[in-house]
Amino acid sequence: MNQSLLSTPSGTLKIPYFCTTREIACDCLPKLSLILPTYNEAGNIKDIIEILSQLLDQYIPERYEIIIVDDNSPDYTWKLALELTSNYPQLHVMRRVEEKGLSTAVIRGWQVAQGEILGVIDADLQHPPEVLEKLLEEMERGADLAVASRHVEGGGVSEWSILRRVLSRGAQILGLIILPEVISRLSDPMSGYFMVRRNAIACKTLSPVGYKILIEVAARGCISWIAEVGYVFRERQDGESKVTWKQYIEYIQHLLGLRLSISARFIKFSLVGLTGVVVDMGFLYLLSDKIGPELPLTRSKIIAAELAVINNFLWNDCWTFGDISRRQPEKRQRLKRLIKFNLICLAGLVLNVFFLNMFVRIFNYNKYIANLLAIILVTLWNFWFNLKLSWRVTEID
Ligand code: GDD
Ligand code: MN
Repeated sequence: MNQSLLSTPSGTLKIPYFCTTREIACDCLPKLSLILPTYNEAGNIKDIIEILSQLLDQYIPERYEIIIVDDNSPDYTWKLALELTSNYPQLHVMRRVEEKGLSTAVIRGWQVAQGEILGVIDADLQHPPEVLEKLLEEMERGADLAVASRHVEGGGVSEWSILRRVLSRGAQILGLIILPEVISRLSDPMSGYFMVRRNAIACKTLSPVGYKILIEVAARGCISWIAEVGYVFRERQDGESKVTWKQYIEYIQHLLGLRLSISARFIKFSLVGLTGVVVDMGFLYLLSDKIGPELPLTRSKIIAAELAVINNFLWNDCWTFGDISRRQPEKRQRLKRLIKFNLICLAGLVLNVFFLNMFVRIFNYNKYIANLLAIILVTLWNFWFNLKLSWRVTEID
């Protein structure tokens, strides 16, 4: 029986497409790898393992693994869990000594996991284990991310103090202000109980801060379909919560870090757009002016615009979205990205002309101010659709 501890990964927090650090226990990979991050859970660990094993033996017999990731608990949670492995062949234990923290514990567990679905649940029985069945159903239906939420039908919290409720809701509102495109997709962004498809986050460098692993997954993963399942957050039976003010500060830090890294992409995209303006203007001059072939204006503009689009594509493909396109280096995929980029920019060109005319003819704006506004609006359009279509979709190919 697996009485030995799992090796503790180190280095970047990247989940592989396939776990190669462990030999496969049976002739098929587990469907679900469920991580239990633990710190001083000696009073709960036996119960939670027993309940989880019973339920998962019903839901997905022999197709799951439970991985405890303990941060060297002073109450020897890891030791108690290791002793349990002789009764539960699906149970594995990792004891971390150097690295600490809830969210990195979850990711380290996912790094050694073998399942196509990666899950996380607290070890203190506050997350009702029976909700796993509904989360699995949602994943089977094709969700990329299935979240147990306290804020949808069937959800709630037990006797949380007013302060904790206010803090939880306040944290959510703050998230909507700083990171609307991520937090608005989740009714309970603070949830620590969810499942995610391995492919949706594989090879993404995750850099969570503190407790909130879910927003890291939702922000950095390729998450098209999010399913939510209601659950009632229970009272603790044993031990106490490790949540302190530090976790709330870390949460704000995490939101700002994600904002910066997502916006960094937009800033790079805008800078590339500026180089495109220079290329467009330059070739318009060279092609239509007397120093060159003096082509008709429209033909010069079309050639100059297309050269600017190709210039922008090359810069965006190797710099702005380089982290994504490096994983699809094939010529066929790159050509597909170029065609999509071209089509989106062409639609952007039409929009540009439309906005320019609207601001000048309807709102009587000065034509250069109108053109600048039109360019800003179309840059947002180009960025958003290229992020969602050109570079994202090729990942699914
Ligand atoms: N390995 C490890 N390292 N585990 C930890 C650490 C740590 O530093 N801190 C806490 N844990 C484990 C606990 O042992 C427990 O299993 C789980 O993470 C949750 O910790 P709690 O301290 O009980 O958190 P909570 O109950 O106040 O809040 C939980 O539920 C919320 C709602 O889902 C956390 O999961 C929050 O992230 C979550 O928002
Ligand atoms: Mn808890």
